[in-house]
Amino acid sequence: MKGLIIYKGKYGATRQYALWLGSMLGWPVIPAGSETAQQLADADCIILGSSIYIGKLQLRKWLEQHGDAIISKRLFLFLVSGTPSSDKGKLEGYLAANISESLRSRCVPFFLPGKLEFNKLSWIDKLLLTMAPNWPAIKRMTSPWKIIMMLKKSIWKPFLMLSGSRVRWLRDEVHHFGCAAGGPRH
Ligand SMILES: Cc1cc2nc3c(=O)[nH]c(=O)nc-3n(C[C@H](O)[C@H](O)[C@H](O)COP(=O)(O)O)c2cc1C
Repeated sequence: MKGLIIYKGKYGATRQYALWLGSMLGWPVIPAGSETAQQLADADCIILGSSIYIGKLQLRKWLEQHGDAIISKRLFLFLVSGTPSSDKGKLEGYLAANISESLRSRCVPFFLPGKLEFNKLSWIDKLLLTMAPNWPAIKRMTSPWKIIMMLKKSIWKPFLMLSGSRVRWLRDEVHHFGCAAGGPRH
């Protein structure tokens, strides 16, 4: 069986998980948009990886464009986010809001904890990250000083939760579905 890993992220967390999986399974790892139509057509099994920003999957557009080409394949999808994996309702809500029902029902989903290093974010992402959760409160405040103090308090603490062992579960599922025949095991 031929396998392929396609991913899209922004600051390296999704890419790191994709690379770990690639080396565990011996499959090619390709950033979304760099694959060829032939690579997609040849794959029997595809692992899709995406991070999420303000509720939107990085891979959303790619899935809309390539859904028809991949829907008949064995599909796994890992979502990298800041939401704890215990919050299943929220995580599944992200998938429901971003992926068509027909494609979603074909994907085995996995939720992986992400990484956030505030200093490395673009200024727009810093702004989004601090403003978005506080927007209702900001709208009620009249003093700019109060707004600054509130944003200062709410700046996200950096979190670094990546670990290769987290993707072993996904690798085992891929083996379980018989998709990794021929790929090296680690
Ligand atoms: C501007 C911004 C918005 C984010 N929005 C969400 C979100 O809506 N839900 C969530 O669970 N995590 C959110 N995150 C956390 C990211 O999904 C997490 O940092 C992830 O590891 C990013 O992976 P990447 O580096 O592969 O893009 C957000 C992070 C940033 C910087």
